[in-house]
Amino acid sequence: MKKKNLGLYLHIPFCKSRCIYCDFVSSIGDQKNMDKYVEYLSRQIIDEGKKYSQDYIVDTIYFGGGTPSLLSNEHIEILSQTIANTFELNLKEFSVEANPCTVDEQKLQTLKRAGVTRLSLGVQTFNDDLLKMLGRRHNSEQAKQAIKIALNYGFDVSVDCMLALPNQNLDDVNDFVDTAADLGVEHISAYMLSVEDGTALKRLIEENVLKEKSDDEEAEFYDHLHKLLKERGYSRYEVSNFCKNDKVSFHNLKYWKGDDYLGLGLSAHSLINGERWRCASDFDEYYSIIDSGRAHRLDKEKLSISDRKNEMIMLALRLDEGLDIKEYEIKFNENFSKEYARALAKNAEYIDYDGKKLSIKEQYVKVMNSIVVDFIK
Ligand SMILES: C[S@@+](CC[C@H](N)C(=O)[O-])C[C@H]1O[C@@H](n2cnc3c(N)ncnc32)[C@H](O)[C@@H]1O
Ligand code: SF4
Repeated sequence: MKKKNLGLYLHIPFCKSRCIYCDFVSSIGDQKNMDKYVEYLSRQIIDEGKKYSQDYIVDTIYFGGGTPSLLSNEHIEILSQTIANTFELNLKEFSVEANPCTVDEQKLQTLKRAGVTRLSLGVQTFNDDLLKMLGRRHNSEQAKQAIKIALNYGFDVSVDCMLALPNQNLDDVNDFVDTAADLGVEHISAYMLSVEDGTALKRLIEENVLKEKSDDEEAEFYDHLHKLLKERGYSRYEVSNFCKNDKVSFHNLKYWKGDDYLGLGLSAHSLINGERWRCASDFDEYYSIIDSGRAHRLDKEKLSISDRKNEMIMLALRLDEGLDIKEYEIKFNENFSKEYARALAKNAEYIDYDGKKLSIKEQYVKVMNSIVVDFIK
C-alpha cells in the first residue's frame, strides 16, 4: 500500500519572557526544563512513530511555539535526528519559528544541518516604540539583521506582522511592507491583534493605558496592508498569508486543506483519518502520560459527516483558491449546488461560484465570517 503524507508539528513551549498580548502555551524556559522537555518529546516522537511510520511519510515538519529558536544546538540536533530515525521523510518543507533576537550564525548553521528550509520570524513591526510596548525582546535593527543573515544562509524567510496595535498607524504598515520587500522577504503572515483574557494587554486596555482599535480601524489596516503587498508583488493565498513566487507554507496549507497532521509536545493538536485530539497542556500531565506508556489522546473525537463538511468549507474559504467542488462531491457523495442552493443564492453578491470552485470575492474576505456561517450546518 502506498504511504500517505503526514505533516509533523512539534510544539516548543518556552520563551525568554512573555509578550504583553500572548496567550500561547509557553513558559519561561531554563536549560534544565528544556533538557527534560526535549528528552520527553523525543520519547513521544518514537512512541508515535511506532503507530504511524508504517503508513505515513512525513513531508512537512513545523517547529512552533513558544520560541523554538531558543532550543540549544544540541536540542535541535536531537529532535531532528530522532525524527529522521523514526519516520521515512520526503521533505517539501521544514519550518522553524524564530524570535529575531535568538537568530545568529551558529544557530542558522545548526538549523541548516538539521535540514530546516524555512524560518518564520516573529518580527511584528519595525517600529521600535511599538516593539517596546509589546514587550518584545528585539528591536527593528535586530529584526533586519536576522532577516538578512537568514536569507544569506539560503532559508525561505517568512515574517509575522501584527496589525491594529494600540498607537500603530498606517505609516507603520507602509514601513513594514517596504522594509520586508526591500530585504527580499517572500512570505508574510499578518495577524490582526487579538486581545486575549488574562494577558497584560487586556489589563492595560481595561485600565485605559492603551486603546484598542475599532472594527472599522482593523478593516482599514487589513485593506491597507493588502493593497501595499499587492503593489509590491505579493499575492494573498490565505486570509492572513501572502507570498511571492509561490512560496506558500506547505505545512500550514495542510491545516486549511484538512490534510493529516500529527502534533507532538505540550498542547499540540492532531488530525489523522478524520479523528482529532490534543496533547496535555500542563507539563506534569504531559510528562506523566509519557511515563505511563500511554499516548496523548485528550478530547479525542471522530468528526461526524456534518463536522467534516463544515470544516472543509470553512477552511477552504479562507484560501483564495477556495473550495474545490469536485473534491467535496467525491468526498461526501453529494451534489454541492443542490445541497447549498439556499446559501449560494443568499450570498451570490459576495462569492465567486462556477460549479467547480467556490471562493469569497476579494473585497468581502475581511467579512468572510458572516458569509461562511450560511454554509455551516
Ligand atoms: C508563536 S508566535 C511566533 C514565534 C515567536 N514566539 C515570536 O513571537 O517571535 C506566532 C505569532 O502569532 C502572532 N500572535 C501571537 N499572539 C497574538 C495575538 N494575541 N494577536 C495577534 N497575533 C498574535 C504573532 O505575530 C507571533 O509572531
Ligand atoms: S509572541 Fe512568541 S515570544 Fe512572545 S510570548 Fe508569545 S510565543 Fe513567546
